[in-house]
Amino acid sequence: MSKHLKVTFQCYVLINCIFWALLLVMRLKRFLLRYYPPGIILEYEQGGQVKTKSIDLLDLASTDDALSIAQNLSLKEPLITQTRIPQVQKLVTKLQEKIGSTGDRQFYLFKVLRAHILPLTNVAFNKSGSCFITGSYDRTCKVWDTASGEELQTLEGHRNVVYAIAFNNPYGNKVATGSFDKTCKLWNAETGQCYFTYRGHTSEIVCLSFNPQSTVIATGSMDATTKLWDVQSGQELSTLSGHSGEIICLSFNTHGDQVLTGSFDNTVCLWDVHTGQQTNTLIGHRGEIANAHFNFDCSLIATASMDRSCKLWDVRTGHCIATLRGHEDEVFDIGFNYTGQQIVSASADATARIYDAGTQKTIAVLEGHESEVSKVSFNPQGTHVLSGSADKSARIWDVNTGECMQVLEGHTDEIFSCVYNYEGDTILTGSKDNTCRIWR
Ligand SMILES: *[C@@H]1O[C@H](CO)[C@@H](O)[C@H](O)[C@H]1NC(C)=O
Ligand SMILES: *[C@@H]1O[C@H](CO)[C@@H](O)[C@H](O)[C@H]1NC(C)=O
Ligand SMILES: *[C@@H]1O[C@H](CO)[C@@H](O)[C@H](O)[C@H]1NC(C)=O
Repeated sequence: MSKHLKVTFQCYVLINCIFWALLLVMRLKRFLLRYYPPGIILEYEQGGQVKTKSIDLLDLASTDDALSIAQNLSLKEPLITQTRIPQVQKLVTKLQEKIGSTGDRQFYLFKVLRAHILPLTNVAFNKSGSCFITGSYDRTCKVWDTASGEELQTLEGHRNVVYAIAFNNPYGNKVATGSFDKTCKLWNAETGQCYFTYRGHTSEIVCLSFNPQSTVIATGSMDATTKLWDVQSGQELSTLSGHSGEIICLSFNTHGDQVLTGSFDNTVCLWDVHTGQQTNTLIGHRGEIANAHFNFDCSLIATASMDRSCKLWDVRTGHCIATLRGHEDEVFDIGFNYTGQQIVSASADATARIYDAGTQKTIAVLEGHESEVSKVSFNPQGTHVLSGSADKSARIWDVNTGECMQVLEGHTDEIFSCVYNYEGDTILTGSKDNTCRIWR
C-alpha cells in the first residue's frame, strides 16, 4: 500500500468512526413523569431522531430516599449524568407524593348525558380525561367534553352497532370504532372526519385496540381472525389466523411487539406484531375466554373464562401457573393492578374477587351487587376497585378491607361499561338505559 493510500484509508476509517460516534451519541432532551405506573421517561436525541426510554419504578415507596434512588439510577443509566442527579431526585420526590395519595374521595353524580337513542356499548376516556367517547347500538360513536357535558362530535357512517371504541392515547387526537357492520373506521377526534374504513373482516368486529405507539390498530372479529391495520396508510398489515372460534378480546403488551387474543375456542393466542406469526397458545380453560390481560412488565397473562375460573400464565413459556377459583358462575372480566401483584375478577355470581398474584390466594370477596358483575378494574392508585353490574349500579370497593365504600346509583338499566380516568378522580358509567353518567 502506498503511503498516500494508507493515510487516505486511515482518514476514511477515522471519519467513519466519527460518523458512527455521532450517530450513537445520545443527547438528553428532557424528562417526563409517568404517575401510573410510576416511572421517568427520558426523551433523547440520537442520530437526529427523538427517542424515548422509560425507567419503571414500580416498587417505589414513599419512604425511600429519593437522593439515593437518583444516584442509583445514574449508575445504571448513562443519560443521567452526575449533574442531572438533583433534577432526578426532584422527580422521584414528586412521584412519591403521588404514590402517597390513596385516591380516596367521595364521588358525586356530576352529569347525566342522554347520550344516544339506543343502549350504549362502551365508553372510554382520552388520557387527560378531558374528553370521552361513547359507542352505541344507534350506529354512532360520540365525542364528549367531560367538564361541560357538551357533545363535540357525532361519528356517523357505520351501518350497524358500534361496539368497540378507542382513543389513540396518550395523543387523543384519533378515535377507532369497530362495528357489527364488519368494518373498523379511523376518525379525527377533533373534526369528526373519517380518515379510513378498514374492510376485510367477514363478521362483526367486537374488540379493538391501538398499539401503545398508536401506529397500529388491532381488530378482533366473530370471523375468528384478528387483523392489524396501519394507522398512517390505512392498509391491512396482517391477518392473525389460528383460532377456531370467535375473537372476544385482545390486548397489546406494554412494548407493543406482542398482542394476545382470547377466543370462544377456549384458548388465548400470542402473536408477534411485526411478523403476524402465532408465538404461543394458552390451552387449559374448559370454557370460552371472556377477557385477558398482560401485567405491566409483560411477564404474566391473566385470563377470565366462562368455565368459572381465572388462570395465570407465564408469557415466556405459555404454561399455566395457577388457576384462581372461587367464583360460582361465569367470569366476565379480569384486571391486574399495575405492579402485577393483585388481580381482580368479575362474575355472573354477582361478586368480584381480589387475588394475590404471588400466592394465588383470595384476598377479598366483594359482595353486595344483586346481579351479574360485568366490568371491573383497579383505580390507578391501586387502592380501590370499580365494578359495574346488571343491577344498574356501579360500586367502589376498598382493596384492603373488601368493603363497599360507595354505590353509584341512578341508572335505570344494566351498566355495560365503567371506567376511571387516568388520574382516578373521574368515573364514567355507560348503560343500557341509553345514558352515560359522569361521577367526580
Ligand atoms: C442503591 O443501591 C445500593 C447498592 O446496590 C442498595 O443497597 C440501595 O438499597 C439502593 N438504594 C435505593 C434507595 O434503592
Ligand atoms: C384529549 O382529547 C382532546 C380532544 O381530542 C385533545 O385535544 C386533548 O389533547 C386530549 N388530551 C389528552 C392528554 O389526551
Ligand atoms: C398492587 O398490589 C400490591 C400487593 O398487594 C400492593 O402492595 C401495591 O400497593 C398495589 N399497587 C398498586 C399501586 O396498584
